[in-house]
Amino acid sequence: MAAPIKTTHWRKFLFHFAGEHLDFKLPELKSIASIFDIHLDIDEAAYSKENPFLVVRLSSEEDAKKIMTRTVLIRSACELWAEGRNYTELCHNIENIPKAFISPFLSTKFTYKVHVGSFNKKISNKEKVKKIESLPLDDITRYGTVNLSAPDHTFVLQEYYGYGKTNAPDHPYNIYFGRWITDGQRDKIQDYHLQNRHFLGNTSMEAGLSLIMANLAKVDKNSLVFDPFVGTGSLLVACAHFGSYVMGTDIDYPLLHAKAKPSRHKQKKRAADESIRSNLKQYGFESQYIDALVADASKHHMWRHQSMFDVIITDPPYGIREATQKIGPATENYVIEDDVREGHVAQRSQYGLSDIFKDLLNFAARYLRLHGRIVFWFPVVRREYSEANIAKHPCLHLISNCEQILNTKVARRLITMEKMAECTDVENSADYDIDHYGEASFRERYFHKNKGHDTITDDVEHSQVNMERVTIKDT
Ligand SMILES: C[S@@+](CC[C@H](N)C(=O)[O-])C[C@H]1O[C@@H](n2cnc3c(N)ncnc32)[C@H](O)[C@@H]1O
Repeated sequence: MAAPIKTTHWRKFLFHFAGEHLDFKLPELKSIASIFDIHLDIDEAAYSKENPFLVVRLSSEEDAKKIMTRTVLIRSACELWAEGRNYTELCHNIENIPKAFISPFLSTKFTYKVHVGSFNKKISNKEKVKKIESLPLDDITRYGTVNLSAPDHTFVLQEYYGYGKTNAPDHPYNIYFGRWITDGQRDKIQDYHLQNRHFLGNTSMEAGLSLIMANLAKVDKNSLVFDPFVGTGSLLVACAHFGSYVMGTDIDYPLLHAKAKPSRHKQKKRAADESIRSNLKQYGFESQYIDALVADASKHHMWRHQSMFDVIITDPPYGIREATQKIGPATENYVIEDDVREGHVAQRSQYGLSDIFKDLLNFAARYLRLHGRIVFWFPVVRREYSEANIAKHPCLHLISNCEQILNTKVARRLITMEKMAECTDVENSADYDIDHYGEASFRERYFHKNKGHDTITDDVEHSQVNMERVTIKDT
């Protein structure tokens, strides 16, 4: 393990997060730091996921820049030079900014601008100028000239007025002043937006969440990534973006062969080249695509028994927009015929959610390399969910468990686990403390029995619509 860094060498950075997927902020940051072996110092006791600003101590600006090359949830990073609970305190601290920060600005000419941001309050340009003028910046800007369009340096004055819908207070709770370093990767959400995706399905995962999943999974250049429920390969696209080699399986032959019903409004027939390969090709990742097999993810014995994947990343079927099925007799007294003919389509039986997640962990325990990660979604009925519902395996350690709320009733949880031991002697050890599903399906949890018929309540209809929106539409 690397020797601890002396805190005296650390610098403070202000990370400005986007206002979405709040539960995922810290896990994404920690995973990225771990990819680069960066020591993060965060005051977790003071951490609030609703607050978009996080002060982090890092050993260098380079570390902050590395984090920003991967993060989808952090908008921008500043080197934090001064902060205060009011302007008197801030100005006092600006006057006492360590020389090390401002010395590069004391001899050479440069251009600059000051950006003023205010979270949870609208401020006019006139007020912004007044605030800038109130700051004791002469020492810093003495050799500089203002250039608003293409400055050499951007200084940032950031005010925080709390969060939520209540009226913002007259004065900010916190004010930060620093030097902008760089922005994160939020533009990638647009670059990979599903709207422009060649091959799209009903449950294609939105670009932002796919990239976050890839970060949590710690996919990296040359990682071997596997998605057992690959669908249209959205997760493979995100992993390939970070340089990994990708492959998957899916039981749906028509989907993988461009014969499934089109998902796009008004499209009558799928184009012959609608495939996972074409999705990867669309972004220039074709050479990183290994293949996708039409196969049942529950059949683990089709794989050679060895720890081969660096990452398993997946969104298993929930049984709402697609069936949860596996190969097996659909009826009880099914007789397997000897002369299985060409063109034979294997029977399918129900694949309960309870089994899907246990199988998934058993698979990961066996086929992940040591310290490889598995990242997957687990749908839950919020009222009944507890942490005891997350499947466990003695060889897999839970890293994070983030909630994405879909409506008042249902959510899905993004689970990240790391393989901590080789597991040859504890096959099929995955289990639940409390099984969230038992024999029931997610669909059954949605439905309410009413006079002997299954009827969808308003709430349920909304859930389904929302589920669709969440998976199809990027925020
Ligand atoms: C939620 S979707 C995955 C969507 C995918 N992440 C994407 O972006 O398109 C789940 C997928 O699991 C597949 N599936 C269902 N049962 C399966 C099984 N037993 N083995 C393999 N794939 C299965 C479905 O056909 C569906 O494509």
